[in-house]
Amino acid sequence: MTTDQQASIQGGLFGEEPLTAKPADEARISQIRDFIRLYDFQYYVQDAPTVSDNEYDGLFRELQALEAKHPNLVTPDSPTQRVGGSPVKAFSSITHRVAMLSLNNAFGDDELNAFDKRVREGLGINQVEYAVEPKFDGLAITLTYENGYFTQGATRGDGYTGEDVTHNLKTIRSIPQRLNIQNPPKLLEVRGEVLMFKSDFEFLNQQQITRGDKVFANPRNAAAGSLRQLDPNITATRPLSFFAYGLGASEGVPHLLTHSACMDYLESLRLPVCDLRAVVSGAGGLSGFFEKVGALRSALAYDIDGVVYKVNSLAYQNELGFVSRAPRWAIAHKFPAEEALTVVEGIDVQVGRTGAITPVARLKPVFVGGVTVTNATLHNEDEMRRKDVRIGDTVSIRRAGDVIPEVVSVMLNMRPSNALIFTMPSNCPVCGSHISRQEDEAVARCTGGISCKAQRKQAMIHFASRKAMDIEGFGDKLVDQLVDGDLANNLADIYRLDFNTLASLDRMAEKSAQNILDALIKSKKTTLARFIYALGIRNVGEATAKDLARYFGSVEAIQNADVDQLQQVPDVGPIVAESIVNFFAEQHNREVIASLVKPAEEGGSGIHWDAVIAQSGASGVLSGKTLVLTGSLPTLGREDAKALIEKAGGKVSGSVSKKTDFVVAGADAGSKLAKAQELNVNVIDETDLLRLLSEQ
Ligand code: IVH
Repeated sequence: MTTDQQASIQGGLFGEEPLTAKPADEARISQIRDFIRLYDFQYYVQDAPTVSDNEYDGLFRELQALEAKHPNLVTPDSPTQRVGGSPVKAFSSITHRVAMLSLNNAFGDDELNAFDKRVREGLGINQVEYAVEPKFDGLAITLTYENGYFTQGATRGDGYTGEDVTHNLKTIRSIPQRLNIQNPPKLLEVRGEVLMFKSDFEFLNQQQITRGDKVFANPRNAAAGSLRQLDPNITATRPLSFFAYGLGASEGVPHLLTHSACMDYLESLRLPVCDLRAVVSGAGGLSGFFEKVGALRSALAYDIDGVVYKVNSLAYQNELGFVSRAPRWAIAHKFPAEEALTVVEGIDVQVGRTGAITPVARLKPVFVGGVTVTNATLHNEDEMRRKDVRIGDTVSIRRAGDVIPEVVSVMLNMRPSNALIFTMPSNCPVCGSHISRQEDEAVARCTGGISCKAQRKQAMIHFASRKAMDIEGFGDKLVDQLVDGDLANNLADIYRLDFNTLASLDRMAEKSAQNILDALIKSKKTTLARFIYALGIRNVGEATAKDLARYFGSVEAIQNADVDQLQQVPDVGPIVAESIVNFFAEQHNREVIASLVKPAEEGGSGIHWDAVIAQSGASGVLSGKTLVLTGSLPTLGREDAKALIEKAGGKVSGSVSKKTDFVVAGADAGSKLAKAQELNVNVIDETDLLRLLSEQ
């Protein structure tokens, strides 16, 4: 069909008008855009196209031609503008208006019942209504619509700040560029998951093979890789999809009472929501939904790894609040991890960052949980003996999410007569140092410390990893070459690498060498918490690093703290405290840290971060005070209010008692306000809180 025929069919009123008449062109442009938006919705969201590809393409080309003729009529939300943004050097970071938190997991009926019990008791009611939906196996993102227009989209990142991937999200056809509503809300943040349908994933991998490009292990990796492209033109060629599952910040949105009403609202705006969602009652309703979706799982067009239950009433959600970084009103009920049988072809040991010696089973490759697995951890010697894993055995292995695959059990009836028992080595296979195992520890360790290349390599890989210093491109292959070639022996050496050294490495083009140098420079601006985590102190994970940073405010303060002072930090017990003290007792570690944070002008690496106000002393204005938040806080939002209060030394509690210093009551405050009045606790509003915080 030609463009002109198309115009006369769908142009209707305008078909007869000469194309040069501008008002007619303008009207036609607007009309075609409406058609394309509708057809996109029907095709990508409803999976029910009403026009042929040819008709659609004809309309699209007509729109392109009209826009070429009238460049001043091109608007950012035109369907022609989805593709074609220019590549970016790096993603800029975006602070979420409302934090994007995670969900706690429940495995099995007991944990599910315990969740329902906690909710019932928390609310003081007998039966709870839940909104239930699949747990999509993709990437969490947030979409911002301002006055009805899609203006910004970001990844979840660490929950508080994410990466700006607006240009890439624009290429996803099921994400509307404009909300389908007459009077759009001033602000609407939509939370949801980007994923790749199974059939699209197969198709993409076929294409990748044909082109000689890398194939993706599973749809989730393909979706993640595609969304994090710096060039939106590449993302545009990747078949990504999206499901909305919640709201973030909003302004001017109708008063909604339940999560399911929020979903209906999003659906009415033509955002893709999953049609498997439902509302059920009580724990029985939850397990019924779990069974139903479990039975459907393999037939679904996309991967899911469980289902999510959310207390349906938003007022109840508000009342239950959050604990740590997850809501008390929701939980993810995960499907059991997938298992598969394979053969142990060998066993050897790996040396970890802290010298831990882990026996690893080398397996006949097997596809499980979305990837091909060739190694599985045996954890430690005792575990290996308990399961009695031998070389030659057929074993069942399990892989769940991003967790390292593990050997679950041995098929004893399939054991060959020549199956071989593995003996743990007494010396480190990498540096030859003695391996020692303390009586109360399950783990054996290489005693080589920093003289062990394996430990140095692992420490570097950890230091550069995404949640630590986030040095892009600094992977294990590079680290192998640096350490084996004596080009970098400690963490500070990494920042001394120059272009020529990098470019002389195997498989390192000049461009890649430059990219690494750029990434190294970029990584120097970090946060205290990331830096502490990056040091790789035994028993100090991401959360502990954050707590330490918040409490002490500087590396020196942590370095100089003794075991007792360290234990003042929430969640730091004697074992963690001792690991920290031992780490800083090493002269070598102190030297490397000093060199890393010394300014570049003085010959150091110049790693720096914004100052952190320590909460340990009585310095914060809310130091030692306990606050309870209730009702809505329109300016700050709950999460920000909580973060700011904590920064000022205060604590946020979920319930009002005599010990509460202030109740911050916003609009629609409920029972907590009444309780505060009853107990004579100070009640302040959001403005008072802001005033208090500004005294900091
Ligand atoms: S709600 C505050 N609903 O699970 C709760 N999350 O662990 C916000 N996810 O990062 C999350 N399907 O990527 C929610 N139906 C669903 C989901 C879902 C998948 C992911 C999401 C999030 C993670 C939370």
